[in-house]
Amino acid sequence: MKGLILSGGRGTRLRPITHTSAKQLVPVANKPVLFYGIEAMARAGIEEVGIIIAPQTGDEIRAAVGDGGRFGVRVTYVVQDEPAGLAHAALTAEPFLGGDSFVMYLGDNLLQGGITDLVGAFREHGPDALILLTPVSDPHNYGVAELRDGRVVRLAEKPPEPATNLALVGVYMFTPAIHEAARAIEPSARGELEITDAIQYLVDAGRRVEPHVVQGWWKDTGRLEDMLEANRLVLDRLEGRLEGELVASSCDGRVVVEAGARLERSTVRGPAVIGAGTRLVDAYVGPYTAIGEDCLIERAEVEHSILLAGSSVSGLEGRMESSLLGRNVSIGRGERQPRAYRFMVGDNSEISIL
Ligand code: TTP
Repeated sequence: MKGLILSGGRGTRLRPITHTSAKQLVPVANKPVLFYGIEAMARAGIEEVGIIIAPQTGDEIRAAVGDGGRFGVRVTYVVQDEPAGLAHAALTAEPFLGGDSFVMYLGDNLLQGGITDLVGAFREHGPDALILLTPVSDPHNYGVAELRDGRVVRLAEKPPEPATNLALVGVYMFTPAIHEAARAIEPSARGELEITDAIQYLVDAGRRVEPHVVQGWWKDTGRLEDMLEANRLVLDRLEGRLEGELVASSCDGRVVVEAGARLERSTVRGPAVIGAGTRLVDAYVGPYTAIGEDCLIERAEVEHSILLAGSSVSGLEGRMESSLLGRNVSIGRGERQPRAYRFMVGDNSEISIL
């Protein structure tokens, strides 16, 4: 069995971060989202992993993941020229997948329980496809499955009147029959070859599509609030480790301070992680915060946020919270007159002022 991780796409909902970088590389608890998927594959005993990449962000993903050796898998990159849909991505990877069954995993998704059970169920029952489902309170925002006698009978994409509360999770198991289905379907109204349509095609052709309700949480990190929520869920299980330098500072609760980080007259209240080379000076870092490498927080308070490498926050009067800062972002208090807000921000940025 092979693995296929989808790490292309447009990432429009996570702009401006995705103007310059792949959303799958945004760190959750200081580790790129994509790495969680690769690790889940390795844990399930999958050795051959294909990663779908887009032409614009592919190089960055290749640089971050390499040949997969450090995860214990062999990675093959598959370039998808256009983000023409999840079923299109599966079809693009057909030369890599050949006649093998495979796990398809959306590269911006996180699944608490991993995929080991799922791979086991697929091997044991031998269906034509297996889809993961999770109960949600707002099924009209998801792909929703209708079941009968333990089988999937219908899938509907964001139905106004959902038949069940079972949403499709971004992890699927397929036999090569999915390629035939992807070739047979037409693009949807938004111009994409939808994986739900391909699975429906299998159902309509009398193939056996088995549902599997996941235990534990599942998170799609496609939007800012989801990314912060994923960060919160992963940090909730953090084990503390203080390897950096603390000068007149304290860390309460579960906190990771990486070697090479330095805290001066600062307080960190966990769960939180402080990356290598980062300095906190007269600062407060509150729960559910992940600060990347080489950042600076000075005379400021930060909580429930993700900061990518090289960013700085200084001299803020109010606490910064629920924020995502890209790489090398600088937020601070200016000295110049007249007293005014001064910004240089990229397209699609969002700023809210006290
Ligand atoms: P989505 O989040 O559904 O799509 P997107 O990445 O284009 O984002 P947005 O809707 O904000 O513009 O994609 C889920 C995952 O699948 C994500 O990791 C990107 C990947 N993907 C591909 O690799 N190829 C594709 O053609 C599409 C649509 C998504």
